[in-house]
Amino acid sequence: MEKAGKRILVVGSGAREHAIAMGIRSGENDRDVIVAPGNPGMSEDVTVRSDIPEDVAEGAEWIASLEPDLVVIGPEKPLSQGLGDLLKERKIPVVGPTREAARIESSKVFAKKRMQAAGIPTAQYQVVSNPEETRELCRTWGFPVVLKADGLAQGKGVSVIQDPDGLEDAIERFFVKREFKEAQDLIYLEKGLSGPEASFIVLTDGKKFIPFPVARDYKRIGEDDRGPNTGGMGAVTPLDFWTDGDQSEACHIVERCLWSLSKVGSPFVGFLYAGLMKTEEGLRVLEFNARFGDPEAQVLIPAAGDSYCDMLMSTASGTLDTGHRMIADPRVAVVMASRGYPENPETGYFLDGLDTARQIKGARIYTAGVSIKDGRIVSSGGRVLTATGEGALLPDARRVAYEAIGKIRLEGGQYRRDIGIVNPR
Ligand code: AMP
Ligand code: GLY
Repeated sequence: MEKAGKRILVVGSGAREHAIAMGIRSGENDRDVIVAPGNPGMSEDVTVRSDIPEDVAEGAEWIASLEPDLVVIGPEKPLSQGLGDLLKERKIPVVGPTREAARIESSKVFAKKRMQAAGIPTAQYQVVSNPEETRELCRTWGFPVVLKADGLAQGKGVSVIQDPDGLEDAIERFFVKREFKEAQDLIYLEKGLSGPEASFIVLTDGKKFIPFPVARDYKRIGEDDRGPNTGGMGAVTPLDFWTDGDQSEACHIVERCLWSLSKVGSPFVGFLYAGLMKTEEGLRVLEFNARFGDPEAQVLIPAAGDSYCDMLMSTASGTLDTGHRMIADPRVAVVMASRGYPENPETGYFLDGLDTARQIKGARIYTAGVSIKDGRIVSSGGRVLTATGEGALLPDARRVAYEAIGKIRLEGGQYRRDIGIVNPR
């Protein structure tokens, strides 16, 4: 393929990858930005290549044939399958950890061990292998406790347990129904913590890192955090409870984590995401992810401004310049999901109003679960799109995001109305 400017490939298909790709294009028009497999809602902004093979070995071959100057891997699955390693072997610059370093997300027990070795504060845990052992440990610790599956379970392999009924329910799901299949080859119980949560995400070349502004996501489907967990129904940045002290504690946690991974021969290159809880005793790590959060990416990537692509390039070459500054403006992301999501999303409905929403000053639209029918965009997944708003103050950002999502028409489309409200109740 002919190319004039740099060719950059983003692997993935959701709103996060749309945001990553738009961030790369920011400030330069001669960059050839390809998203694979992408989705048709992105095609006005970037080149969409849906023909990437799903198998990672074939995918790496296919990527190499495009001769990209840089590859950014969005989702956890190809990372945990070693796409990063296969690209590195071909000397292709890549933002995304090796399979071994990605274990910080793909094995929660591995993450716990690295945290213990590095003195990173996290909840006490113990691997459990049967219901009786789980009950016994719960009697010793008292409620709340949390039962977790070790492997990747799309954020679902976690059960926060408040009382004996909840414990029996979780035991049924984990040990009897084995709901999380191969993700639950190992199961562990940990002590329950309480406090507000924060997503602290950094871009790192393995040694140096640049933190994005702090954000939070909204995991539950319903307002006031009710109903089942989802892939994320919204996000907001910044957070009113976050202090300078929290910022330095969080940076210290990331430093320790990077040190700990390097020590076992798996330096981490890419986006490292620390899911934190601010308890009365200080910050505690709930989980690490080996990639950008979704929908956190939709509110955070614009903070990198026009330097974003340079930051990614220097990350891949191990020469990240930590002098880059983030533009920490308030931003709010609201996700539109299909009716029936997360259990049984109804799809195949026409989506209208995208262009009108995009015209609103300060708004951006990032598409996810969409496809093409009769030449028009239709919903094809649970989370259909994210509308974001930016403003001088958080309420301005909120107003813009809701104005934008209000222009979208989707039969049965649902979204939360309480994203970004400061101090709800
Ligand atoms: P994780 O995937 O491990 O981040 O867990 C998903 C969600 O479960 C978190 O965002 C928290 O809301 C909750 N959670 C996880 N671990 C704990 C814990 N030790 N105490 C209280 N809540 C937790
Ligand atoms: N928003 C949480 C995640 O991406 O895991």
